[in-house]
Amino acid sequence: NEGALWGGRFASGPAAAMAALSKSTHFDWVLAPYDVRASTAHAKVLHRAGLLTDDDLATMIDGLDRLAADVASGEFVPAKSDEDVHGALERGLIDRVGPEVGGRLRAGRSRNDQVATLFRMWLRDAVRRVAVGVLDVVDALVAQAQAHPDAIMPGKTHQQAAQPVLLAHHLLAHAHPLLRDVDRLADFDRRAAVSPYGSGALAGSSLGLDPDAIAADLGFDSAAENSMDATSSRDFAAEAAFVLAMIGVDLSRMAEEIIVWSTPEFGYVTLADEWSTGSSIMPQKKNPDVSELTRGKSGRLIGNLTGLLATLKAQPLAYNRDLQEDKEPVFDSVAQLELLLPAIAGLVGTLEFHTDRMAELAPAGFTLATDIAEWMVRQGVPFRVAHEAAGAAVRAAEARGVGLAELTDEEFAAIDERLTPEVRGVLTIEGSVSSRDARGGTAPVRVAEQLAGVRSAAAAA
Ligand code: ARG
Repeated sequence: NEGALWGGRFASGPAAAMAALSKSTHFDWVLAPYDVRASTAHAKVLHRAGLLTDDDLATMIDGLDRLAADVASGEFVPAKSDEDVHGALERGLIDRVGPEVGGRLRAGRSRNDQVATLFRMWLRDAVRRVAVGVLDVVDALVAQAQAHPDAIMPGKTHQQAAQPVLLAHHLLAHAHPLLRDVDRLADFDRRAAVSPYGSGALAGSSLGLDPDAIAADLGFDSAAENSMDATSSRDFAAEAAFVLAMIGVDLSRMAEEIIVWSTPEFGYVTLADEWSTGSSIMPQKKNPDVSELTRGKSGRLIGNLTGLLATLKAQPLAYNRDLQEDKEPVFDSVAQLELLLPAIAGLVGTLEFHTDRMAELAPAGFTLATDIAEWMVRQGVPFRVAHEAAGAAVRAAEARGVGLAELTDEEFAAIDERLTPEVRGVLTIEGSVSSRDARGGTAPVRVAEQLAGVRSAAAAA
């Protein structure tokens, strides 16, 4: 078992199938730059504890620097015989500085505290990249909201015509959850910024090494309080996987609407050519594949979260090899979002809205009925009675196949004498939208305020 990290007590090397099962270099190699960085920090605390001479430290750091450069250039890669990223890098270091110095680095640490630390480092960086991508989607929504300050569209509940709303209000309703997701990522980082390095295999280090120095060197806020917790807990990974899945779910809600909006039956939007695809058989097709892949990948992100939680469930303390299964789902969630986010930002930013079509459909389905009832309430009518009267107006309009605004003065008066011609003041979609002017409402003044708020929140995030 030449070159392995644990040969001593074994008379033979692992069986081929054992080695194949155990191997993780095909996915954990992304941790290599972090591993070299952490090894450099570890070398310094070994030196400070008197376990490396000045010369040894200089040789070690020079070797690690060269190794980092060779990893970055692709010159140094895992060999077939390497079990994991940690073993491969020790081999690489020994190749560069010899076994006498290279063999000293591993003192006082274990792959268990190493991998827990490196995964946190990788994830903290990855999550920052994802946050930038999410903010690009928010920016695209904001730009569209800003470009359409007055456009009115049908607002729906239960996918049925409900009340007219501003298109900008609708678009911003997708920006808010995404901003909260970015906030969740920042919150994740607060808890993830604790370093397991120095926890050893499970019980801590006996060599007088300073975990706080390594933590600070690697950009963590502090070193872990409990070495068993630090080497075996992966709630930080599950938390990130949840937020990544939530981002997928939030994007999928928007994607589903874009798919529906782009159908000829709706005709609300035209997708830009560069963000659509065609059909190999039907020449007329222009398909909303960005949105569909968003919808599909959101399922995959949920699967990654639930798979990870299932892996973690009921594992006894401390480290178990099950934990090697923690990384791939999280790596995958990040990779999928890194593909998705620029595409969905591009799609949203280039949507062409057909605002005439939206405005034309906004009163369809008697969406101004609530406005009639609320107008009567302002005239002193109890809402119960007003609701009945507005409902009767809907029935009358429906029977005649017209909209509410087409009912005659006589028809209104026949329903309730308090339905005077003045009610027509609220029977326009502009009047309806403008009347909802309390905080959070769809009135243009409120939406303009909201837009400014979203813009500054996105800029501050
Ligand atoms: N590759 C392992 C992981 O990803 C770390 C190695 C721990 N191995 C061990 N025998 N303790 O979790």
